Amino acid sequence: MQTIQDAPALRAAIRGWRGNGQTVGFVPTMGNLHAGHQSLIRLARARAERVVASVFVNPTQFGPNEDFERYPRTLVQDQAALADEDCDLLFAPEVGTIYPFGAGHSVSLHVPQITEVLEGAHRLGHFDGVATVVCKLFNLVQPDLAIFGQKDFQQLKVIERMVRDLSLPVKVLAAPILRADDGLALSSRNQYLSAAERARAPLIHDTLLKMRELLGKGHAWRALEQVGGARLVRAGFAPDYVVIRRAEDLAEPADGQRAGLIALIAARLGTTRLIDNLLID
Ligand code: PAF
Repeated sequence: MQTIQDAPALRAAIRGWRGNGQTVGFVPTMGNLHAGHQSLIRLARARAERVVASVFVNPTQFGPNEDFERYPRTLVQDQAALADEDCDLLFAPEVGTIYPFGAGHSVSLHVPQITEVLEGAHRLGHFDGVATVVCKLFNLVQPDLAIFGQKDFQQLKVIERMVRDLSLPVKVLAAPILRADDGLALSSRNQYLSAAERARAPLIHDTLLKMRELLGKGHAWRALEQVGGARLVRAGFAPDYVVIRRAEDLAEPADGQRAGLIALIAARLGTTRLIDNLLID
């Protein structure tokens, strides 16, 4: 696997593959790779002839009080993990390659509506940063397909919408959430949890399962949001939201709607913010 930092070398490698008629699958990441990321690489491997991953901790998607500085940077381990999955190329650019005029002076993309709720309401500007960097990475890598994890479900929807609205020639594929044996969704941020917090963290997934079960038994979705939130608060979490939404656009469901839904939770445990979701059909 080759690691490339600059745009001309990246373009040359990809031009070579394209010249041979090969398709390119792309997995954008912020590094600190875990088994969840590796499953995305495997999916790309199965769907495309060449696989590119990027590792770039994108400054524009972090708020001023978020964890940009302490976000784990583990390039050497990431290279090994990607090589293990038979990734062809790692693109690991410097900030100046992605933001030639500085991160604070970049063109910024805003995907309306879907970015204004849930994560977008709690992390102002977050999805502008995500859409901007993903669009820049798509322009650099020019993949046929790109893989995004369903754990960041709203991010996936934002990217799908951006791709459609900007007519980008990229097929967006969703990969299922990978979980630890106790149900906790894999995330680079799990390592911030203390041992006691790690033991409590699976309650988020458990609460999503409970909400799905009760919805199936005929409970109203609005009531379940209260039930789920109260359960987490009792266990010492500080939820940002515990909601049931339409999976297609994250809008509130109609009363009595039972299919095409998703339960989503974002909650703080100590200083760590965790998110998770569960599709309900
Ligand atoms: O999901 C992530 O890791 C990031 O938001 C992404 C898509 C790599 C953009 O920086």
